Amino acid sequence: MLRKEQNELLTQTGPGTPMGNMFRSYWLPALLAEELPEPGSPPVRIKLLSERLLAFRDSDGKLGLIDEFCAHRGVSLWFGRNEDGGIRCAYHGWKYDREGQCIDIPSEPAGSGMCGRVKLTSYPLIERGGVLWTYMGEPDKQPPLPEYEFATVPANQSFTSKRFQECNWLQALEGGIDSSHVSFLHSGVLNTDPLFRGSKGNEYNLNDTRPVFEVTENEGGLLIGVRRNAENGNYYWRITPFVMPCFTMIPPRGDHPVHGHFWVPIDDETNWAWSFDYHPVRALRDSEVQAMREGHGIHVTYVPGTFIPSANKTNDYLMDRASQKAGINYSGVSGIAVQDASLQESMGPIVDRTKENLVSTDNGIIMARTRLIRAAKALAEKGVTPPGIDPEHHKIRSAALVLPPDQPYATAAADAMKANPGKAHVSV
Ligand code: FES
Ligand SMILES: [Fe+2]
Repeated sequence: MLRKEQNELLTQTGPGTPMGNMFRSYWLPALLAEELPEPGSPPVRIKLLSERLLAFRDSDGKLGLIDEFCAHRGVSLWFGRNEDGGIRCAYHGWKYDREGQCIDIPSEPAGSGMCGRVKLTSYPLIERGGVLWTYMGEPDKQPPLPEYEFATVPANQSFTSKRFQECNWLQALEGGIDSSHVSFLHSGVLNTDPLFRGSKGNEYNLNDTRPVFEVTENEGGLLIGVRRNAENGNYYWRITPFVMPCFTMIPPRGDHPVHGHFWVPIDDETNWAWSFDYHPVRALRDSEVQAMREGHGIHVTYVPGTFIPSANKTNDYLMDRASQKAGINYSGVSGIAVQDASLQESMGPIVDRTKENLVSTDNGIIMARTRLIRAAKALAEKGVTPPGIDPEHHKIRSAALVLPPDQPYATAAADAMKANPGKAHVSV
């Protein structure tokens, strides 16, 4: 349970808020590279951390992320012409380069000097691992580029998608570190989904619905270790890393690709649920990529032309009561991502955390909130750099393994949790 002001601190990420300032300390996923495929391709409107922005690739192929609205009289530059090194407003032809600098006011007399004094807000936009990343903080504090393994393996080993989710980012993140719901909500799909089925770990997951959480702090955030009973008194451990502020990795299953999420605030009531799958040592199989494109695993299918899942709030997520009753799907909603989204959205845009009743399996969530609040306050009050900015903190993996009962997971699995290029993930 949180106090009202703690819930507000955690959930508000607009300009000038403490959590918003903290998010602006990191490189964050902004768009899929395929959204801006070529020089001069149509610009894309994007809202991040409550700021409405326009992303474009100029005629030289260079990327820009600028204020969506023209400095003249506020028209959306999405209607603009992407031509000759900039975006030209469709209303009166003012033109801006990819850094937001006005470079032409065609209606003004030459030499008026007006143009040089007009500049829109702009942020860097860089491509890495099929994702366009932005940094929305102070230019002199821009950190080194992100080093998450899914974004640094060869392109044929990785697949990334994003979907629009109608709730605050923290509700979505909390789903990512709450491993106990897997034995319930996702129980129907563990043995049928082509990207999950067939692993020994599934059996442990389904046979023990009373997991024990052991959460430890690490440099970048948290390790959420969750143990279930295995054979001969051993424990099956699933270890989820949480890297501040909003990166989580799901423990793998067998030789399936390993996967995870970024939960990026669009505004305080919606977020981008980024979902990636990668294999550290081999190319993804055609059948795997096809399954991801068809909405299996942690991915979804879409309303055409959007990033809104085709099963969504407006159609009750295609609830199937017969499948719920028969136990094919625990909740009656099909697909892991939509199962999560449906329940997280059902809590309302910003859940009232003053009314919760938390239990021992919520320990990961409790510690993540504490860590986030502590870091946002330390940044606001003392300028302390938050965890998770150093690219070394990104070189981490989830793991799933069986250990004897006397071995603490944090030390026994220390090696398994390092993103070692060329080394397979540790998975049961
Ligand atoms: S509003 Fe953009 S040029 Fe006038
Ligand atoms: Fe889930």
